[in-house]
Amino acid sequence: MSEKCSIGVLGMGVMGRNLAYNLSHHGFSVAVYNRTPDYTEAALAEFPNEGFKAAYSLEEFVASLETPRKILIMITAGKPVDWAIEELEPLLEEGDIIIDGGNSFFKDTQRRYDELAAKGLHFCGMGVSGGESGARLGPALMPGTDLGTYKQLQPFLDAIAAKAPLDGTPCAAYLGTGGAGHYVKMVHNGIEYADMQLIAEIYSLLKLTGHTNEQMSAIFEEWNKTELDSYLIQITSQILRVKDQAGDELLDKILDVSAQKGTGKWTNQEAIDLGVDVSVLAAGLTARYISMFKTERTHAASLFAGVKPEGTCDLPADDELLPLAQGALLAAKIIAYAQGFSLYRAASKEYGWDLQFAKIASSFRAGCIIRSTLLEPMMKAFDTNPDLENLTFDPYFAGLIKENLPALRKIVVLALQAGVAVPALSAALNYFDALTTERSNANLIQAQRDYFGAHTYQRTDKPGHFHAEWEAALTENEANPVAKEVEINA
Ligand code: 6PG
Repeated sequence: MSEKCSIGVLGMGVMGRNLAYNLSHHGFSVAVYNRTPDYTEAALAEFPNEGFKAAYSLEEFVASLETPRKILIMITAGKPVDWAIEELEPLLEEGDIIIDGGNSFFKDTQRRYDELAAKGLHFCGMGVSGGESGARLGPALMPGTDLGTYKQLQPFLDAIAAKAPLDGTPCAAYLGTGGAGHYVKMVHNGIEYADMQLIAEIYSLLKLTGHTNEQMSAIFEEWNKTELDSYLIQITSQILRVKDQAGDELLDKILDVSAQKGTGKWTNQEAIDLGVDVSVLAAGLTARYISMFKTERTHAASLFAGVKPEGTCDLPADDELLPLAQGALLAAKIIAYAQGFSLYRAASKEYGWDLQFAKIASSFRAGCIIRSTLLEPMMKAFDTNPDLENLTFDPYFAGLIKENLPALRKIVVLALQAGVAVPALSAALNYFDALTTERSNANLIQAQRDYFGAHTYQRTDKPGHFHAEWEAALTENEANPVAKEVEINA
């Protein structure tokens, strides 16, 4: 008797096979398929007790599934997803569901969603966060599709997702249609880059002040018992303790050139398109870019030797430095999240998604890479006020900012004096300073634009758009120029 499977996983790479295991572990019968059989064999060998139904052709794979079929694609984002869909499509029937769990670009997801909908097929673009162990033991899932399709998938997603620590809610909330799920994942990764960079900058400062890896590990471990409690702080503390086979500190042997696969870049491109300041996230990205210019950096380091301050300068001793570093990290991290959520806010409006920010924060509480104890109050902040303009305006976060901003300022000043690059920490500080400047310098920018390009400006004391005859005023009476202003009708 050949029982049909309740779900199929296409792509037996690390994420695919671990998700297949997770599904099977939660009682679902799982069919598995990979374009090349070696990965399928490896999955069967790694999980011999899960009873995966292995298929060796797409036809066999599709035929092994209950209808409406649910097929989770776990392959490299980009063209391969289109190819997989193209090959699957003729084998599927109306009502079948394809789920893309890769890090696809949300506009591709929206296109695939629309194209498949026109053919009677359902498509769900789903962000999956948590890496290999998350996939196996409980990832954070970010599904984007129509509500009806989500309802069909919900039992699977709720079962395999991580559960929030305090209330057990599955981290798999429905986020919206089309590209919404992949959008949420993309910005999650933008925040991930920022969070990692902030930690790395604090690591630089601690290293400069002579802390050993073991000492830094202990410091991060201590911080992990505070509001900084998060997956990234926890793994940083662990990374700092690991030795290589020769007994050397593994971290010290790793080349200082960091890679990226695109999601952080897309987040920043999106922020530019939507006109949102995500400067801390941008610093997380560009720090990776400059890291890649190793040869240039090496040359510059010797060319400009002595130009920068050497040594620890005025960096204080631990009893002063550590609380400052801890506070700085906390304030900057909150600001990074605030920027990420501002982008969600703009995107929700732009794409008509009606994103529920509380649900996003809720889904980040467990399983994902940026999980942290701050997500619980973040969820509450957006629950209490779904229209919260800026996360830092919520009373709890405003309190943390008021308490820790002085530390951020002090640390940035100390780092700059010592010649340590802290692009993400200083971006957070600059963002805060700009945000809290009621009367900014943009009046001068507007005046310059109007002077050279007649781009017009608004006045503080009356409505309308105006152009001033700046040059004429100066020519007529250089000592006492008085500009004629014309009101410009838009
Ligand atoms: C996650 C991660 C993951 C991402 C890696 C690598 O949430 O599990 O975001 O999806 O692919 O972190 O990303 P980069 O190669 O761009 O650093």
